Amino acid sequence: MLSTPLANIADLRERARRRLPRMVFEYLDGGAEDEVTLRANRAAFEAIRLRPRLLKDTAQRQQSVELLGETWRSPMAVAPVGLAGVFWPRADVLVAKAAAEAGVPYILSTASSATLEDVAREAGGNLWFQLYVISRALADGLVDRALAAGYRTLVLTIDVPVSGYRERDLRNGFSQPFRITPRTALDVARHPAWALQMLRHGAPQLANLASVDATDADSQAALLKRQMDASYDWTALARLRERWPHRLLVKGVLHPDDARDAFALGVDGVILSNHGGRQLDGAVSALDVLPEVVAVAQGRPVLIDGGVRRGVDIVKARALGADAVLVGRAVQYGVAAAGQAGAARALAMLREEVDRVMALSGLADIADVNSALIAP
Ligand SMILES: Cc1cc2nc3c(=O)[nH]c(=O)nc-3n(C[C@H](O)[C@H](O)[C@H](O)COP(=O)(O)O)c2cc1C
Repeated sequence: MLSTPLANIADLRERARRRLPRMVFEYLDGGAEDEVTLRANRAAFEAIRLRPRLLKDTAQRQQSVELLGETWRSPMAVAPVGLAGVFWPRADVLVAKAAAEAGVPYILSTASSATLEDVAREAGGNLWFQLYVISRALADGLVDRALAAGYRTLVLTIDVPVSGYRERDLRNGFSQPFRITPRTALDVARHPAWALQMLRHGAPQLANLASVDATDADSQAALLKRQMDASYDWTALARLRERWPHRLLVKGVLHPDDARDAFALGVDGVILSNHGGRQLDGAVSALDVLPEVVAVAQGRPVLIDGGVRRGVDIVKARALGADAVLVGRAVQYGVAAAGQAGAARALAMLREEVDRVMALSGLADIADVNSALIAP
């Protein structure tokens, strides 16, 4: 339960920071190398100013959207986040339930701590599955399982041909295989509530990859690393398009030509993303390339992520032509702070903020948010 008032996502982040060992918090919070792109994601949103038109009747407001054949109660989806079980036991299931209650899609990571079957069975709602660029054999097995479990939207993450270099994790000893050093032991001992939870529930695994020869998190992470396939190219995407009979989106696009090529192959939507600043440091923010991509998309779905911390960010993304955003850390701060209630709180905060921004901008329907709202 949440006692002291939490006003915004930053408060949830602070609560998470206090609850988690530093190495776990920095795994969640940090980015690659100098974190230039991580900061650019926030800066891009903050640089935009709105020009409201007022004296409009906004007494009744609605922010639901029809997208990819479904109704979303808000123009946001929960981004895939690997190893979420270190933030709170069974975080994947809890966040998926919070998303279902909020009426927004939830994207389960390949590297989830609960199996894709368990999440489908326990959470319900609009569930998507995220796939990495991995070897054919491993990918085919996961895709077949996702199909059998009822997932109808697949997201291929293309910006991880290799892992980004996250130096905080390296310094903190948050790596695979996990090594207990005097420093990590002290870090854990200083966060007893978290430590007790992990003891009670066991160390989180990469559950989708559990097999007879990969029974613990270390060997599962090593398996995933071995299977990452930097030779994955457009031919491999074309093959996936043929294999997967339902909606397919590509996540990690940052160039209008890649968006155009993806649409030409028959993908149903693109997600502009720099992986929350965790992969190529120096990459542009999704928001900066959004108008160019919207121009080539010709009405086909364009989603963006990276740096969404406020409802006003979601309104700005819509005004620049995005259909919806993915929310990564904001929801994970919530689950890390207070489990399912915290994740639900994060989604509710964003929804309430969108609603208020619409009223303050003189817009009753999210469909009326467009470039006229942006100051030139
Ligand atoms: C801790 C963490 C783990 C992530 N794991 C994955 C993953 O497994 N697959 C993936 O496609 N993206 C992953 N991402 C990237 C998110 O899906 C998303 O692109 C990013 O978090 C958006 O930025 P934001 O956190 O500023 O909202 C991860 C992000 C974080 C913070």
